[in-house]
Amino acid sequence: MTNQVALITGGASGIGKETAKKLARSGITVVISGRREELGAAAVKEIEAVATGGAQVRFIRNDVTSEVDVEAIIDQVVSEFAKLDMAVNNAGISNETASIDLSDSGNFKAMIETNILGLYYCQKYEIRQMLKQSKGSIVNLASIAGINGMPWAAAYAATKHAVAGLTKSSALDHAAQGVRINGVAPGAVKTDIIAAQLDGSDPNYNEEVISAMHPMNRLGAPQEIANGIAWLLSDEASFVTGHILAIDGGFTAK
Ligand SMILES: NC(=O)c1ccc[n+]([C@@H]2O[C@H](COP(=O)([O-])OP(=O)(O)OC[C@H]3O[C@@H](n4cnc5c(N)ncnc54)[C@H](O)[C@@H]3O)[C@@H](O)[C@H]2O)c1
Repeated sequence: MTNQVALITGGASGIGKETAKKLARSGITVVISGRREELGAAAVKEIEAVATGGAQVRFIRNDVTSEVDVEAIIDQVVSEFAKLDMAVNNAGISNETASIDLSDSGNFKAMIETNILGLYYCQKYEIRQMLKQSKGSIVNLASIAGINGMPWAAAYAATKHAVAGLTKSSALDHAAQGVRINGVAPGAVKTDIIAAQLDGSDPNYNEEVISAMHPMNRLGAPQEIANGIAWLLSDEASFVTGHILAIDGGFTAK
């Protein structure tokens, strides 16, 4: 997989960073994007330390809620590396745990901006570039909350169901043009995004309770999600498009 170029949004932490390490280990040049310069610089060092085969690593400051920013990042990747083989639309937020009656409309709007509109902008400009190459592979971060209903997370679940819709429908539009578009639906994974739920402050919603929701009775590791993403991105998955791969310890089998 050398000479390949991948973009990972929100790639300075959690699942995105683990995916970047996994790809760089296989010799793939990785561009990670995110809003936090310092975090990005630290992640670049970590990813570079495991990179092989001349793979390069870059961080570009970028906010996926800005269409102008997103278009610019794709332009920047293509002007430096001449192409974009793979993209992981991973940037996402989950900013409340509440039923809709108690939910804050501003929180929902922020999730729509990032999880739906942000991902839509990314896909749009990635696909435009990949169509020029007649080849490309995209993986979107959905969630088990994009397949099943999720208690206390209706607003987040709505945004992740939208990710599944964007993934499957865009996959149909471009299936015959060499561009594959898939998604992964992780179960609960120990990263910053669920840190507030795991801090032990709520006896009804903590690591033990969340683990027990999964038949394997544990949380996932970011590496386990990265493994699935890397497979979907690769030519090993050459006949797979429009698929949402659940990596969830059995959650969606219930
Ligand atoms: N951890 C879980 O339990 C879990 C489960 C299912 C799905 N997911 C999804 O996986 C993806 C990665 O999450 P994670 O678990 O690694 O958590 P994380 O918080 O470590 O990663 C999310 C990243 O997205 C970045 N980001 C957020 N808004 C952004 C914006 N506007 N522009 C650019 N970057 C932005 C964050 O700064 C962060 O680096 C998310 O889309 C999340 O919804 C996570």
